Amino acid sequence: MVNENVAEALSLRHIAIIMDGNGRWATKRGLPRISGHHEGAKALIKVMKKVRSLGVEHLSVFAFSTENWKRPKEEVNGLMRLIERMIRERLLPTLNDNPDLCVRFLGDKTPLPPSLCEACLCAEEKNPEGKFFLNVALNYGGRDELVHAVNSAIRDGHKTLDEKTISSYLYTAHSPAPDLMIRTGGECRISNFLLWQLSYTELIFTDTLWPDFDEEEIDRCVAEFARRRRRYGGLDKENPV
Ligand code: FPP
Repeated sequence: MVNENVAEALSLRHIAIIMDGNGRWATKRGLPRISGHHEGAKALIKVMKKVRSLGVEHLSVFAFSTENWKRPKEEVNGLMRLIERMIRERLLPTLNDNPDLCVRFLGDKTPLPPSLCEACLCAEEKNPEGKFFLNVALNYGGRDELVHAVNSAIRDGHKTLDEKTISSYLYTAHSPAPDLMIRTGGECRISNFLLWQLSYTELIFTDTLWPDFDEEEIDRCVAEFARRRRRYGGLDKENPV
C-alpha cells in the first residue's frame, strides 16, 4: 500500500502521544534529565515526519501538563527554555517551508513565560489554512480543559450543554477525536491527557522510552491499530457474535 494511503485505509486521522520516559532515558546514561528532554524533542521531529508520511492529518503530543509545575524549578525552567527554542529554531522555519502545516497549542498560555507565550502565538498565526495539525499540549490538563470549556460556554450564554457544544469549546475543537493514543515509557495510564476526547480511542502502551521511539515503532503501533476492531459500543458488523 502506498504510504500516504495507510491512514485513509485504516480510518486513522488522529494520533495522540504521551511522550514519557525522557528523564529515565537520561538518568540511565548518567546525564541530567534535561538531556532526555532534548533527545525527546529530536524524536518528536522524526515521529511527526513519519506520521505525516502515512497520511495522518492530526498529531497531538503532551509536552507539559498542568501537574508538571510540581517538578523541580530547574527542570521546569529548562523545559520552558527548550520548548521555546524548539518553536523558534525548528518549528517556525518548518512552518514557513510547509504551508500545509498548522500548529495549535492546547492549554492555558497565561502562566507561561511571556517570551514562550509570544513564540506560541507567532507559530499559531502561521498557516491558519494548513491541513496537517500539530497539537502541542502545553500547560494542559484534561480536567482543566473541561472546566475552561464549560465556563466559556456559560459566559457565551448557554443554559444547558450537549456533547457537540462541549466539544466545540475544547482546545481541540478543530480536530476529530484521536483514533489512536500511544504512551511510551511503560506506564499504563492517561495522566489527565485528552480525557473527553479519548473515550473511544484505541490505546497502546509501550515500554520504549520516548527518546528511543522512532519510525519503526510507529509502524508497529499502526499495525497493532489495524488489528483492533472498533465497535463504539455496538457490534462488529463483520462478526456480530
Ligand atoms: C515526560 O518524560 C516528558 C515531558 C514532561 C516533556 C516532553 C517534552 C518534549 C519531548 C519537548 C517537546 C518540544 C516541543 C516543542 C513540543 P518524563 O520527564 O516524565 O520522563 P520520566 O518518566 O522518565 O521521568
